[in-house]
Amino acid sequence: MAPPEEVDVFKVPHRRMKELVNYYCQKLSKTDFSSNRDLGNLLKSLETTFSEFKIHEQIENDCIMNKLQRRLEALSIQNEQVCEVHSHNQLSEMLELVSQGYRLVQKGEGEMTTYGKELRVALENFTQRFLPHMKEEEEVFQPLLMEYFSYEELKDIKSLVIKRHCLS
Ligand code: FEO
Repeated sequence: MAPPEEVDVFKVPHRRMKELVNYYCQKLSKTDFSSNRDLGNLLKSLETTFSEFKIHEQIENDCIMNKLQRRLEALSIQNEQVCEVHSHNQLSEMLELVSQGYRLVQKGEGEMTTYGKELRVALENFTQRFLPHMKEEEEVFQPLLMEYFSYEELKDIKSLVIKRHCLS
């Protein structure tokens, strides 16, 4: 059952993250990797998107996961999932791959099609992990939060999460 809107700490930011995923999937499908301009536009968009994903993750760590971890520790409850929730996210690797693409575009090197294939596979792999990751947060961590935080505490957490994402 979906949590009440006012204490659902993931729904609004994840709506934004899913929009970004849809946007880069569409852009990827329309990109001509033999075109410097097309690839440059895609890379610029991906740099912004993955930077936003990083900010999202930092906000979740600061406002949600660290608090949840501390609350569980105070109750002597071990939960590895909470500790490791963002440990395999590959956001830095994706940003590095985007930087590699910029270097190719700037040098005008003729390896853009090969790079395009690598980027496409990396993005598909990332998406296949990122969407389930958000689902896990919604279906596993939100219920944990509901169990160990009060309604008022969750309202405050949600409010802070929305504010820091600048989504209000
Ligand atoms: Fe909401 Fe950890 O992505």
